[in-house]
Amino acid sequence: MENKKRLNVAIDGPVGAGKSSVADAAAKRLGILHLDTGAMYRALGYTALQENIDVQDEAAVVALCGRIRLDVSHQADGQHTFAEGEDVTGKIRTPEVSMAASTVSRYAEVRRAMVRQQQRLAAETDMLLDGRDICTTVLPNATAKIYLTASPEVRARRRWLEMQEKGMNESYEKVLEDVIRRDEQDMNRAVEPLRQAEDAVLVDSSGLTFDETVDRILAIVEAKTHE
Ligand code: DC
Repeated sequence: MENKKRLNVAIDGPVGAGKSSVADAAAKRLGILHLDTGAMYRALGYTALQENIDVQDEAAVVALCGRIRLDVSHQADGQHTFAEGEDVTGKIRTPEVSMAASTVSRYAEVRRAMVRQQQRLAAETDMLLDGRDICTTVLPNATAKIYLTASPEVRARRRWLEMQEKGMNESYEKVLEDVIRRDEQDMNRAVEPLRQAEDAVLVDSSGLTFDETVDRILAIVEAKTHE
């Protein structure tokens, strides 16, 4: 009920579906904030690596999650993510942090804490959230729910191009391998695995341009708002 008045848009999907940038553009056009929830798992994974905590050690990661403070703030250039007050926005995009984030996101207690914080933020203001469990768990009453995907090859190519632009020298094969490995881990974890919610609208961006994908999402939100 509480989500009925709020405009809350939920977008889930696998790695490299272009969720973050598509979500950013869609939120801008809707005039609402965008919360990249993956950044929160990344900030936790990053801190674990910094503190030499074995990310496979569930108890140690859960303890870390209970101890550190994660914050997000929305600034002119987009979302900034903080761990213990340190702005980690630029540091959480490496392949190592990606894998660490995927691993720490398997733990039930970590997910509970993240979901709670995300729900609190979404209740405060109109917001578009992107992640893996937004439609299914974080915002089951969202105004519009979208499952955004593309083929693994298309997703890996986009990721690879992005990395090239940033001067990161990773081979396409390695990026594709990482995409498949993270899909595996995100879709097969015991707690809240990535899956399309029954009432989410599927958007496959494999054959769509960026702008077409954003338009498709806005059309879905528009239709749901008037339902
Ligand atoms: O979207 P991303 O690649 O930045 O997410 C990093 C990892 O965090 C991803 O492997 C899965 C996890 N994640 C999650 O489990 N639930 C979310 N809502 C967002 C991300």
